[in-house]
Amino acid sequence: MRSGMRGRVKLRPVVVEDHATLAALRADVELQHLLLANPPPGGDYDVAAWIVRRQADGAIWAIADLADDACLGYVQIAAIHRRNRHAHFGIALAPGWRGLGVGEAATIALLSEARALGLFKLLLEARVDNHGAIALYEKLGFRRVGTLQHHYDDGGRRHDVLVMEREIPEEPAA
Ligand SMILES: CC(C)(COP(=O)(O)OP(=O)(O)OC[C@H]1O[C@@H](n2cnc3c(N)ncnc32)[C@H](O)[C@@H]1OP(=O)(O)O)[C@@H](O)C(=O)NCCC(=O)NCCS
Repeated sequence: MRSGMRGRVKLRPVVVEDHATLAALRADVELQHLLLANPPPGGDYDVAAWIVRRQADGAIWAIADLADDACLGYVQIAAIHRRNRHAHFGIALAPGWRGLGVGEAATIALLSEARALGLFKLLLEARVDNHGAIALYEKLGFRRVGTLQHHYDDGGRRHDVLVMEREIPEEPAA
């Protein structure tokens, strides 16, 4: 696997220039089914409204190329539980940016953001056939909690879903 983008991406707030990239991700039916979501009904790709919804109980960042600030995808933290200090992690890259080290760099950066938010633990769900994503999460220290059987209905079939979790050390590992 190529790793050319490792160390060459950053997280930053979503700006209006990112909306076309993010709208394309929202309109990508196959991708949405990998994210255990569904494309918005009626072709409503209103990215601004989606960002506001994402921020209601979490946070979202654009993954940006350090060289030209272009948006390569996004990472999000959702469903923050304030007392237990856990939340759900999600990530999606635009198709041309996968397999280059961007997901790994962005997830590491996200762990720092989660620490800054005072979170103790991140959880995530991945379709059991999303082998690349699961390999990334295991590489970065997420552990398999268990499998939810027939959990995600994509409209045509039901998929088993793996639950994973990772605690966030108070200080970054040296
Ligand atoms: C999943 C996703 C975020 C991974 O990001 P990425 O930039 O493609 O992954 P990276 O290049 O950073 O890979 C980092 C590590 O993850 C693992 N990995 C990533 N893709 C892999 C693949 N297709 N097959 C096997 N391992 C893979 C490898 O361990 C890799 O380390 P290595 O390069 O030392 O072998 C990205 O492919 C994506 O956005 N996919 C579509 C959306 C999605 O599935 N999101 C997750 C939903 S749970």
